[in-house]
Amino acid sequence: MKYLIVFSSLHGTTEKAAHHICEYFKNDVELVDLYNEAPLRELEIYDVIIIGVSIHLSSIQRQVKQFLKTNLDILLTKKVGLFLCCMNEGELAKEQFNKAFPSELREHSIANGLFGGELLFSQMNFLEQQIIQKVKGISSDITNLNENSIKAFATKFL
Ligand SMILES: Cc1cc2nc3c(=O)[nH]c(=O)nc-3n(C[C@H](O)[C@H](O)[C@H](O)COP(=O)(O)O)c2cc1C
Repeated sequence: MKYLIVFSSLHGTTEKAAHHICEYFKNDVELVDLYNEAPLRELEIYDVIIIGVSIHLSSIQRQVKQFLKTNLDILLTKKVGLFLCCMNEGELAKEQFNKAFPSELREHSIANGLFGGELLFSQMNFLEQQIIQKVKGISSDITNLNENSIKAFATKFL
């Protein structure tokens, strides 16, 4: 089985979650950073494709939107996993997940994961720090990444 994890991560949390998923796989896993690397072309060679993204200001990164749009047909022929990192919880997090990924893919996927998120002030620019301080009323790092959800997600592919 050939595994691919594609992700987009602005401050490193989704990337961290992608690496944690890898730790559960004995097989070789290829990791591709959609935010910083050129778009992938050869998806045919993979059996399992996992896609991870984060929410910033209610939206996912455009590189992932483009990847999903361009590759939807081939993704529907693969074993797929979808995961989201965000700070909202409960229904709000589910709504963001449903908005992030097309319904056909959500219904086709083997695992859909909500992993929580982190607010890392050292990684934010000045404007982001101002927004988070105003909206959340905090000014220090918060880590709320759910390891149990990551494990439950990864084990569905073993
Ligand atoms: C400027 C900013 C805006 C954010 N907006 C949202 C949001 O609209 N909804 C949400 O659930 N989380 C929001 N978050 C939290 C991020 O989803 C969280 O920090 C996540 O872990 C980021 O993952 P990344 O580092 O992989 O991009 C926001 C974070 C920042 C810094």
